[in-house]
Amino acid sequence: MSKPKITMNNLEDVTKSLESKILRVCVIGIGRIGLPTALSFAKSGLETIGVDINTQLVDDINSGKFPLKDEPGYEDIFHSVIKNQKFSATTNIEDAVPNSDLILLSLPTPMDENNIPDYTALRTVASNLAEILSEHSLVIVESTIEPGFIEDEMVSLISKSGRLTVEENFFIGVCPENANPGEILHDFTNLPRLVGGINLDIAKIIKTIYNFVFSVELIEMPNCKTANAVKLTTNVFRDINIAFVSELSLMFEKLGIDTNKVLEAAKKKYNFQIHYPGAGVGGPCLPINSYQLLNTAKRTGSNLSIIEYGRKINEQMPQHVINLTLDAFNESKIKIENSNILILGVSYKPNVKDIQLTPAQEIIEKLQEQGVSVHIYDPYFVSKEIFGIQTESNVDDVIQDLDACILVTAHDEFKKLPISLFNKMKHPILVDTRGVFDPLEAESAKLTFRGLGRGK
Ligand SMILES: NC(=O)c1ccc[n+]([C@@H]2O[C@H](COP(=O)([O-])OP(=O)(O)OC[C@H]3O[C@@H](n4cnc5c(N)ncnc54)[C@H](O)[C@@H]3O)[C@@H](O)[C@H]2O)c1
Repeated sequence: MSKPKITMNNLEDVTKSLESKILRVCVIGIGRIGLPTALSFAKSGLETIGVDINTQLVDDINSGKFPLKDEPGYEDIFHSVIKNQKFSATTNIEDAVPNSDLILLSLPTPMDENNIPDYTALRTVASNLAEILSEHSLVIVESTIEPGFIEDEMVSLISKSGRLTVEENFFIGVCPENANPGEILHDFTNLPRLVGGINLDIAKIIKTIYNFVFSVELIEMPNCKTANAVKLTTNVFRDINIAFVSELSLMFEKLGIDTNKVLEAAKKKYNFQIHYPGAGVGGPCLPINSYQLLNTAKRTGSNLSIIEYGRKINEQMPQHVINLTLDAFNESKIKIENSNILILGVSYKPNVKDIQLTPAQEIIEKLQEQGVSVHIYDPYFVSKEIFGIQTESNVDDVIQDLDACILVTAHDEFKKLPISLFNKMKHPILVDTRGVFDPLEAESAKLTFRGLGRGK
């Protein structure tokens, strides 16, 4: 049965189709961000289909298995929209796209081993859309992309076959994702979103749609490239500031100054924004976003040396963790070779089940190069194989055999660990890379303690 076609550049048409809930949505890429996005659209009453190349994921979703257990609030929404048939998933993009009015792209934008941004997924899907997108549809790119990517690449890829012409019979815009894993429902329903369109009318239409689904503040940008520039600027600001405090913390360590104390006092000043030093910066956003802007700089013959330098510092932090560990072993007069070290936390940030670009991986590999037998405990990865290591199911089982513990991720669970626990180790060496434990308490507990940036 053919569907009534909604002209997606007509505000009145779009508004009516939202109110009557006949607007059909297709989300391509239903991973960490795309699935919650699709579930939110379905929850608002719009028929939504998710497309993904991951057959297992699609099968799991269609058989009612919720894949994002660490996203509070979405499991109930998932079961309810599956039950009322507002949401389903497919691997068949050729079926899903022509039957939809609104196409959201939540595809991955990773980087390769040389830190070059990789837009293969977006380019592949854009070339597909050239063949299958029905006329008068609206495409919204939610993935994080470089400023200019829509104007310079997406539009020409979708127009390539000559069947579609932008602003005539297809429309495009952006609404960059800005949710934090583990808090996506909260962020989607609270944080302002950036909106950019191929023209200002499209930006207004995108605002209307997102307002219907999320009712958050929608910040209208003059075009797509400005919206994407804002998205990258906010994340790269964090990457650079973390590099700044991490570099400071290396000097404060030598001076016997506790960086935590410095930062807590500094934040009392109205215009100081706190960032924390640590074992390194991972995840699917910050490191990649810096390299995306560096790629833009290269493309435009610009100079962003502060980002380049910031990346260098953040990428050196795992080695500093190894240096702190070696120093503690020297003080204890034991060899690191053949020792047993427990890594507390492998996620790239606290309280999420996500190891993308985690600095824990490099720390583990460097320890293994030193002949260490590495153990892992992470409450989000219990009894799993991570980086070729079978993870522990709890700390107690392994504590007596350990020569050292290195806290890499500040999961809430670790903040509750009593410092006395570490006295049960064969050698009580504790390296805290996230400012979780108090150096004075560690000293009173007679641990050989190294706190990143904490001084002695
Ligand atoms: N995860 C985050 O914290 C976060 C936050 C803000 C923005 N973002 C951005 O959001 C975008 C999506 O990130 P994510 O974390 O959800 O990624 P993800 O890897 O969790 O999900 C992407 C999904 O796309 C699927 N996919 C890949 N190629 C495909 C194709 N050709 N056709 C259909 N499906 C395909 C994958 O199988 C996967 O399920 C990225 O641009 C990322 O930078 C992520």
